Amino acid sequence: MIIRTDRDGFVHPRSSEITSRGAYLQRRQWLAGLAAAGVAWASRDAWAQSAQRPGKLAPLPGKASTVAGATTMEKATSYEDVTSYNNFYEFGTDKSDPVAYAGKLKPRPWTVEVEGLVNKPGRFDLDALLKLAPMEERIYRLRCVEGWSMVIPWQGYSLAELIKRVEPQGSAKYVEFVTLADRQQMPGLRSNVLDWPYVEGLRLDEAQHPLALLAFGMYGEVLPNQNGAPVRLMVPWKYGFKSGKSIVKIRFVEQMPRTSWNLAAPQEYGFFSNVNPTVAHPRWSQATERRIGEGSGLFAKRRETLMFNGYEAQVGQLYAGMDLRKFY
Ligand code: MTE
Repeated sequence: MIIRTDRDGFVHPRSSEITSRGAYLQRRQWLAGLAAAGVAWASRDAWAQSAQRPGKLAPLPGKASTVAGATTMEKATSYEDVTSYNNFYEFGTDKSDPVAYAGKLKPRPWTVEVEGLVNKPGRFDLDALLKLAPMEERIYRLRCVEGWSMVIPWQGYSLAELIKRVEPQGSAKYVEFVTLADRQQMPGLRSNVLDWPYVEGLRLDEAQHPLALLAFGMYGEVLPNQNGAPVRLMVPWKYGFKSGKSIVKIRFVEQMPRTSWNLAAPQEYGFFSNVNPTVAHPRWSQATERRIGEGSGLFAKRRETLMFNGYEAQVGQLYAGMDLRKFY
């Protein structure tokens, strides 16, 4: 992000970006056909759970979500692309660093500490978190502030499920997310590109929106390390950097948290960071995006970026009356 001056300068054409859709997509199309044919959700789920998955990691099935906006018929990005083209600076700043170096990350045992202005703070073990609410499948667009996007099927449940169990107090206005910073496991921490740990935040009402997802898996399996194992946030209407990976602490606070990217470059990365094609980044336009897998370099097809990444109907109300140029 901040250390790149040419957003597409680091994008190298890779054969995987032009490979055809994988088994996962065939499954989605098949499911779409079933839906069109009026087949019941229950049998879709039964089929989905036995369907082919990448087969690389432990299975983590989820029922198709009924949350408004939680699915799309858009073609999902290939598993290979989603797991090899990453931003996870704790493992290095190149897109290929996370897949190369995240093998050292130990996603178990894992606990997430919930603290601050809540009636029921606590330490949640990963197994307890996995059982806290029914696992759902949600297919979200992820739009990176750098100008690329992906479509990813996630497994998880609304962050709101966890929030309601810890009972925020009236004074809690924001939620801060702190992610793992362990030099033994994360070679990228030797660089001072960001102030570690990586910290992100949401306003409480944003965090409570049903689309804000606590994600544990993708493509029907547990999260690969490079995508934020064992638990990350996925806030589909905001630029990707708002979705912290490998979360260890969730803190409820009264004041707007100082977040890593905002501290590093406040004029470039605001607290809200809602996807907004009409508000340019100071160094590039945000009007269009390159969908990973649809060509690269000179041949990259660019799509128009949608307001709130296409989730305006669901989340627009959260920002009613706000000047989105000022609160970028
Ligand atoms: N979380 C942590 N802890 N460290 C990071 O560097 N990068 C962010 C976000 N979460 C990042 C992070 C950015 S810039 C993006 S675009 C998304 O993760 C990328 O997620 P993906 O690699 O799973 O596509």
